[in-house]
Amino acid sequence: MASENIILTGFMGSGKSRIGQELSEKLGVPVLDTDQLIVEKEGMSINDIFARRGQPYFRDLETQLLRDLAERKDRYILSVGGGMPLREENRPLLKKLGRVIYLSSSLDTLEKRLIKDKSRPNLRGEGSLRERISALLEERMPMYMDAAELIIENDQKSASIVADEILAAVSQAEAD
Ligand code: S3P
Repeated sequence: MASENIILTGFMGSGKSRIGQELSEKLGVPVLDTDQLIVEKEGMSINDIFARRGQPYFRDLETQLLRDLAERKDRYILSVGGGMPLREENRPLLKKLGRVIYLSSSLDTLEKRLIKDKSRPNLRGEGSLRERISALLEERMPMYMDAAELIIENDQKSASIVADEILAAVSQAEAD
């Protein structure tokens, strides 16, 4: 059974929170969510942090949070905001925290999951939602790949099956 922390990365809507919850139940360890920790600390929604303080401020909070998490000795599953791997300095910090999994979902799946979303400022902008997701995915993919140790697909499968695949892949990586 996987014994290291599992760090879930992936685009908005890739299922990090849902799969994090599933892993937490299967392993009996708590799940932490970087967006949630930042919202609690700032006492403001992500939309408000972006609107009032700006995206660079939010990104600084993300980096500081990774540094703080590196001091923790307890075990957890970590679900990270979709933009976390973009900053170069965050990528080694993520790896220091545990096994970094990239949850991969197709453009069709992401669009379906995000169509009604109002909580993610980076989905607003020029063009259709599909164009926006596609452009951001293309831009971000090299950074996601650089941060990730393992890639797990999360498209048509149940959360329980995806979580089992992650646990098997992490156990294998630990044994290698
Ligand atoms: C962001 C993803 C969000 C949140 C913020 C920025 C991004 O997290 O951190 O809206 O730039 O991809 P989720 O991936 O949990 O939606």
